[in-house]
Amino acid sequence: MRQIVLEVRDLRVSYHTPSGDLPAVDGVSFSLAQGEAMGLVGESGAGKSTMALALMRLLPRNVSMLEGGIELEGRDLLGMDEEAFRHEVRWQKMAMVFQGAQEAFNPVVRVGEQIAEPMVVLGGMTKAAAGAEALRLLGVVRLPGEIIQRYPHELSGGMKQRAVIAMALAMKPRLLLLDEPTSALDVTVQAQIMDQLKELKQELGLAMVFITHDIALASDICDTIGVMYAGKMAELGPAEDVLAKPQHPYTRLLLASLPRLSQDAPPQFIPGSPPDLRMPPRGCRFHPRCPQVFGRCILEEPPLLGVGEGHESRCWLAEDRP
Ligand SMILES: Nc1ncnc2c1ncn2[C@@H]1O[C@H](COP(=O)(O)OP(=O)(O)OP(=O)(O)O)[C@@H](O)[C@H]1O
Ligand code: SF4
Ligand SMILES: [Mg+2]
Repeated sequence: MRQIVLEVRDLRVSYHTPSGDLPAVDGVSFSLAQGEAMGLVGESGAGKSTMALALMRLLPRNVSMLEGGIELEGRDLLGMDEEAFRHEVRWQKMAMVFQGAQEAFNPVVRVGEQIAEPMVVLGGMTKAAAGAEALRLLGVVRLPGEIIQRYPHELSGGMKQRAVIAMALAMKPRLLLLDEPTSALDVTVQAQIMDQLKELKQELGLAMVFITHDIALASDICDTIGVMYAGKMAELGPAEDVLAKPQHPYTRLLLASLPRLSQDAPPQFIPGSPPDLRMPPRGCRFHPRCPQVFGRCILEEPPLLGVGEGHESRCWLAEDRP
């Protein structure tokens, strides 16, 4: 039976901006079981990082609204006081590899010390024990132990990213949020890191939220895929169904935009750009860009409609399915 680790219900996050409130995550729900990975895909600005930062309770100060439910192993995270969250949840139960994290290393502190630090500060370990654990973690992400003595600039991009993953694993979390963990790396290194993440998922039974704009990359590791568009889930379902039988026109365009060796036709570009979230279009948010738009789309916003076992699409076309 699926053992649910994370349950997100109707999550809403808005930012305060000088030109009005900007709803970046607008009613998103999903659940994640132990050992399962969910891919969160979508174009820039879809709300992917905001969602992950909300889970970690690390949103920037200009958040004007945070509503909904987040439960981790049955515990309500949004209602918890900050002290308890910091001591019991953040990094201990749920860790995150931030977008662009390789650049966040302190350039003048040795890598080993940086990996060991949270174990001393949060875990109350002695420096020696944390150092030994840092060495073990480097082995887990297949990095040679001597790296512990190096400074960040002495590591390649791929090594740095592995070290960042090792850091996130330091407190033995049950859930790992990875925000574009491979986007700054070349394809060979990207493939190595993906293999590594697959191993971690299997060996440690980690639940993962894997954020990427690259739906092909998500398919490599994910059990379920959520396609976000303009702050909302456009399509959500088992990875094989979303990839083989995409139901939302936006998902189809995302898939058609991938270059394929087996096809003579060049990849398609998605026309237009995502809306300004302060003034989203009426009706379906995707309608100004949708090749299948019809009258109702412009007037009424579609809800998520069931299109298969555990598979939903936010599109009126789903109503016509048998
Ligand atoms: N601190 C902030 N203040 C105001 N608006 C913000 C802030 N952070 C993000 N946004 C806006 O919220 C929306 C969602 O941003 P977010 O970074 O979550 O998207 P994303 O899907 O992670 O994009 P990317 O693929 O570029 O990382 C965007 O319109 C963005 O401009
Ligand atoms: S509801 Fe209409 S505009 Fe929106 S995705 Fe479906 S067909 Fe396109
Ligand atoms: Mg982002």
